[in-house]
Amino acid sequence: MERPFPTVAVVGLGTMGAGVAVAVAQSGRRVIGIEANEDSAARALARIEEATAHAVARERITAEDRAALLARISVGHALDAAAAADLVIEEVPEQLELKRELFAALDRICPPGTVLATGTTALSVTRIAAATARPERVLGLHFFNPVHTMKLVEVVRTVLTAPQVAEDAAAFARELGKEPVAAGDRAGFVVNGLLFAYLNQAAAMFESKYATREDIDAAMRLGCGLPMGPLALLDLIGVDTARTVLEAMYEQSRDRLHAPAPILGQLVSAGLLGRKSGRGFYTYEAPGSSRVVDAAAGPAGARGTGREVRTVGVCGSGTMATGIVEVFAKAGYPVLLAARSQEKAERAKAQLAKSLERSVAKGRLTGEQRDAALALVTPVGQYAELADVDLVVEAVAEDLAVKRELFAVLDKIVKPGAVLATTTSSLPVISCAAATSRPQDVIGLHFFNPAPAMKLVEVVSTVLTAPDVTATALEICAKVRKHPVECGDRAGFIVNALLFPYLNDAVRMLQEHYATVDDIDTAMKLGCGYPMGPFELLDVVGLDVSLTIEKVLHQEFREPGLAAAPLLEHLVAAGCLGRKSGRGFRDHARR
Ligand SMILES: NC(=O)c1ccc[n+]([C@@H]2O[C@H](COP(=O)([O-])OP(=O)(O)OC[C@H]3O[C@@H](n4cnc5c(N)ncnc54)[C@H](O)[C@@H]3O)[C@@H](O)[C@H]2O)c1
Repeated sequence: MERPFPTVAVVGLGTMGAGVAVAVAQSGRRVIGIEANEDSAARALARIEEATAHAVARERITAEDRAALLARISVGHALDAAAAADLVIEEVPEQLELKRELFAALDRICPPGTVLATGTTALSVTRIAAATARPERVLGLHFFNPVHTMKLVEVVRTVLTAPQVAEDAAAFARELGKEPVAAGDRAGFVVNGLLFAYLNQAAAMFESKYATREDIDAAMRLGCGLPMGPLALLDLIGVDTARTVLEAMYEQSRDRLHAPAPILGQLVSAGLLGRKSGRGFYTYEAPGSSRVVDAAAGPAGARGTGREVRTVGVCGSGTMATGIVEVFAKAGYPVLLAARSQEKAERAKAQLAKSLERSVAKGRLTGEQRDAALALVTPVGQYAELADVDLVVEAVAEDLAVKRELFAVLDKIVKPGAVLATTTSSLPVISCAAATSRPQDVIGLHFFNPAPAMKLVEVVSTVLTAPDVTATALEICAKVRKHPVECGDRAGFIVNALLFPYLNDAVRMLQEHYATVDDIDTAMKLGCGYPMGPFELLDVVGLDVSLTIEKVLHQEFREPGLAAAPLLEHLVAAGCLGRKSGRGFRDHARR
């Protein structure tokens, strides 16, 4: 096949247009850059020269490459020049009327075969296409900022776009070294459609004072491995831009979860737009700076001193219990590993020994450290042995009746003043507390799996938790080298309440045939730098586990948008549970 689009016009050479022009020229194509007037054309050329000089300085391209590349780019301010292009990419400011007028003009200027692409983020491509007499040759090409590093391009088809035009555009994106994903014309396309609902919920969580901005951001970075926390990301994107995108999404979906959180409007009205204005959710050294100057001090200490913890009891013999025992033993705490029988406790200790052995093999632990940790762990087959410990962490089955029964037993056995913690991910901590006669001593310590590796612990205080118990939890996290974040006793705490609605949105997007499993996963990895796409993650977590958490969230908040996607229910009913069953959203080789 012939190379698609040998000559490309780029109209609007701002942040995005200048980046696109360089990427296109780098692929060996001729680029006709068009700006609004002579002055802005001169500024745009300077911007392109500067960006390419920077690329030479960073050794991304050679000086010769740069010279050849610049020779392929012309910059002017006469729209008529677009007549010589095979493809026109529009990157003017995000205003519908401006874009529609431009497309109408391009339609008059360009020969009938020319393809017209818009760079819009949140406007309707269909409405832009409707300003022309060739809607079958109009589509969206949504690049990501900065264009030279971000590999993703969303190729947006309207109902009228000819399939061949979309295919040519995808081939063109590949020739620029990008990864195209196909999307339909819906506000936010794939990436923003999934990202912004999540950002909006994080903003609402902050607004309701459920957790601090630092804790919300740390929870998502450390709990999910995301490159940035949601509030820091909103500051980077621009609070005003985020609000505009959400407005457009809400307009189409009428989903309350897309209605911009009121705090976004307040920040915009106050001129606090994020990094670009020097202040948004955080305050920065200067406009445009990434250095936060009003970071809060760490959470520990803010609540006074905690109770003394010398010995720890862990209840349970599964993955989480064993992992938590490892965390405490490695930090030097004597730990009683209490299971329902001596045999189960011994088996859990053997698991722990294996895990420590693996760490030694990987060079993360010395033989001496392994022996010292193991020596601190005593397996016991009766909860009665926990009478004298200062802290009990419960990690038994995720079943409220089972946990309540255990807490009632602990209440009778464990000495007064000890802290009783549950590591539940989805049950109310207060229900465990209420099974005891000392709810003030009960708290949630939500470790993440695998506990030895994951830095995050959600510290969940109930309405009855005593302040010195919260302080104890924060101090103990610091001692075992975990990062605590504080939150209230609400379904999903911080991480799951933000993560699972996003996963559910991805399933809904698939169910609606808006995009494929592969396209959605690729889009989120390349567009947001996520370590896994949503379907990869669902298959790892387990579809049944995910469905349970989604149901708990829906039950708690009764938000229609949180109802589990029927496709997820169907897959679980069919026994497709993800990796563990060999089949989920993808097929997996059975181990
Ligand atoms: N900035 C981002 O992170 C980002 C990411 C993806 C997509 N987008 C989208 O890309 C498009 C461009 O955004 P941007 O951030 O580059 O904006 P920008 O404001 O940086 O650049 C717009 C450029 O268009 C020029 N312009 C205005 N009217 C014009 C006209 N009639 N003819 C020719 N040029 C004209 C302006 O002089 C300016 O240089 C928008 O639709 C935006 O939503 C932006």
